[in-house]
Amino acid sequence: MEIVFKSTVNAENYKSRIYLVNSLEDAANCSLSEFEQKMLSAKVNQTRFIKIETPDYTSYVVILKNDSDDESCETLRKLGNEVYNSAQGKNEKDVVIANISCLPNVVYPFLEGFLLSQYSFSKYSKKLEINSFENIVCTGKDCGDINELNTIIKGVFVTRNLINEPNNVCTAEYFAQQAEELFAGTEAQVFVRDKKWIENEKMGGLLAVNKGSVLPPYFVHVVWNPQKNNSQPIVLVGKGIVFDAGGLSLKPNQFMETMKSDMSGAATVLGTMKIVAETKLPVHIEALIPLTDNRPGENAMALGDIITMHNGKTVEILNADAEGRLILADALSYAASLNPKLTIDVATLTGAANQAVGEHAAVYFATAEKDDCEALEKTSFKEWEPLVRFPLWNYYNELISSNMADMKNTGGQYGGAVSAAKFLQQYVSYSWIHLDIAGSAYFKSKWSYKGVGATGFGVRLLYMFLKQLA
Ligand code: BES
Ligand code: MN
Ligand code: ZN
Repeated sequence: MEIVFKSTVNAENYKSRIYLVNSLEDAANCSLSEFEQKMLSAKVNQTRFIKIETPDYTSYVVILKNDSDDESCETLRKLGNEVYNSAQGKNEKDVVIANISCLPNVVYPFLEGFLLSQYSFSKYSKKLEINSFENIVCTGKDCGDINELNTIIKGVFVTRNLINEPNNVCTAEYFAQQAEELFAGTEAQVFVRDKKWIENEKMGGLLAVNKGSVLPPYFVHVVWNPQKNNSQPIVLVGKGIVFDAGGLSLKPNQFMETMKSDMSGAATVLGTMKIVAETKLPVHIEALIPLTDNRPGENAMALGDIITMHNGKTVEILNADAEGRLILADALSYAASLNPKLTIDVATLTGAANQAVGEHAAVYFATAEKDDCEALEKTSFKEWEPLVRFPLWNYYNELISSNMADMKNTGGQYGGAVSAAKFLQQYVSYSWIHLDIAGSAYFKSKWSYKGVGATGFGVRLLYMFLKQLA
């Protein structure tokens, strides 16, 4: 799939033509025949797009309107998906999208929805393949930054592919290799740290979770420093549990089914870094990704175990399924050595976050500056990957206090997303934002432009936020 903007293209040379209009009156400029114009006026008011089929070509007239508030933009993404579904499957490899009369701020989200819909994870079954377009040519009025859009969509697909890849292929080692391959040929550096390195760093959380696995843990560090200076980096941290069986606190089948996706935070960070490297964003950004599976192997960490973390703090393990906070805590503690300006971690951390805001939003916590939080929230609504802020009140600390160690790895019955965040906060000594994307990262059934399986939630948001810091 490739989308380009060409100012000098004649839509009439294409068999699939999509005309974007502000209102129906503008359809007069869509190079439709008299017959088509008649069909158009007959069908109008039924939907926001009208399909006109002739033996030689198919035209779509799409009425975008000029509402560009955040929720209207999300409606446009979904409209993009509807038009895509209608246009796809004709074995047609080329399509032209002619912007007749719309502003770029409504065309762009429409194109986002259209392009995001082209994804399918079909490497394991031919029957899942879709006839996506190979060449998408935009023409007419300004459509926004199409090259950048192309790069963003590909980054989202990188994330979705990594998440959808099952654990019998996507082990910690595989993920680390993918990271190396992804940035080969870019100016980003990738360091893949092995178990020896992790032991030397005394990352007791990552090592404890890994004890139930027969495969070694990894720790991936990606450096993007285009100006090659000592500026303070933005650090991204991603939860990389390549499969979460729950350890000895084994999950019931129903909750384990989707747990190949428990590395969604890691994949989100990597996809974002890919876009950063491809667009050569002039900001110093580093990514840290702790990787392991969480299984109930013979030597798995036991309940009651007391472990020592990277920063020297001790943790009493009371639930082997609260593993994400253990590997993230080590990574967050290690992040301090990079002297970060701001650190953002992304994790499918708690079912409680999913319960609280549903599957189209995520929960966030922050000790970061007000300006950064406001910018992040604003971007989250613009991209419609909405974030809801939850508190870090100190009174919640009692939820994680232990009689045996500095803290325990579980909270009480309620407020699970908060106790997890309070746990992480014990390992943070800098400006910090924590995103809990459990529920929004992976869908069991198909939904509009996000499809089924991995959604890529958070990639557009993070990239757009980072871009503003440039
Ligand atoms: N990976 C899960 C959280 C999760 C749940 C992600 C649903 C995506 C969808 C996490 O490791 C977990 O098991 N959390 C437990 C924590 C509890 C044991 C304190 C949870 O939320 O139940
Ligand atoms: Mn778990
Ligand atoms: Zn988990």
